Amino acid sequence: MKHVIIGASGQVGTYLYQKLDQVGEDVIGTYYRHPHSGYVSLDMRDKEAVKSLLSAVKPDVVWIPAAMANVDFCEDNPELSYEQNVRAPEMVAELASKQGARLVFFSTDYVFDGMNGPYQEKDPVHPIQVYGQHKVEMEQYLLTHVPHSLIIRPAWIYSRDDNPRNFVYRVLSELRMGRSVKAVTDQWNTPTPSDGLVNMAWKALQDGFEGILHIVGPERLTRYELTQRIAKAFGYSPDFVEPVSTELFQLPAKRPLNGGLITQYSSYRLVAGRDFEPLF
Ligand SMILES: NC(=O)c1ccc[n+]([C@@H]2O[C@H](COP(=O)([O-])OP(=O)(O)OC[C@H]3O[C@@H](n4cnc5c(N)ncnc54)[C@H](OP(=O)(O)O)[C@@H]3O)[C@@H](O)[C@H]2O)c1
Repeated sequence: MKHVIIGASGQVGTYLYQKLDQVGEDVIGTYYRHPHSGYVSLDMRDKEAVKSLLSAVKPDVVWIPAAMANVDFCEDNPELSYEQNVRAPEMVAELASKQGARLVFFSTDYVFDGMNGPYQEKDPVHPIQVYGQHKVEMEQYLLTHVPHSLIIRPAWIYSRDDNPRNFVYRVLSELRMGRSVKAVTDQWNTPTPSDGLVNMAWKALQDGFEGILHIVGPERLTRYELTQRIAKAFGYSPDFVEPVSTELFQLPAKRPLNGGLITQYSSYRLVAGRDFEPLF
């Protein structure tokens, strides 16, 4: 099959490109602000550019991990968030489906308010920040207008690579400089390894799964526990991780506290060692 990955230069996109390439699929990846050799430059808001890429490649599948994923930036810049998280992916989805391509979109656990997680796919959404509202809007567009699409919701994605957008990398950068790291004890979530996420996404696509699918790691942890685990795994004392509460940071966007996801489809639950290589 032929695949286009819009946002192959991002954290998920990097793993997705590698996975599809490894299994022998024909893949075209795009970048926006982080050039990558072998990838095509694309701003997904540029309709003519998207049209010409899709009509030249004629993909069977279009993946959209591209997003404006910085929740605080989205809160402060709702119009830009709307452009990037709703208007552009809607336009890509419309063009892709007109050509008969399947669409895979990456949404988020932030569609939920975090009052009583972990959440299943069937639970009603209730976002509490601009980013989550825009992801919900995009999900609803796909469910209504692009019925064969696959909508994946991961949560707190992490990887082993040197990408500043990777949480593990950010923690290790501080620890390596001998600095302690503040991590909140009141946010619960289900951290998702990038390798497991793309392995399961590929399986779901091959199975012809349609609609919303939660793909997350098997454990529910606080950010504090997660950060301590990372420190220990890389040989640092967990005492370098300082427990704090969410309130301390006074960030623009609200975070779900009692959050996290679980999938109601048991065959899509990530298993350590089988679907991903445990990092900690
Ligand atoms: N990270 C998490 O913890 C998390 C949790 C839940 C859900 N998600 C969702 O999962 C998906 C992937 O997240 P991620 O962590 O991989 O994000 P990321 O590392 O920030 O990557 C975002 C990607 O989008 C591309 N992009 C941004 N604006 C674009 C534009 N106008 N046109 C084309 N491409 C554009 C970026 O390209 P350049 O880098 O080249 O500029 C990059 O490849 C996103 O939809 C995110 O909302 C993430």
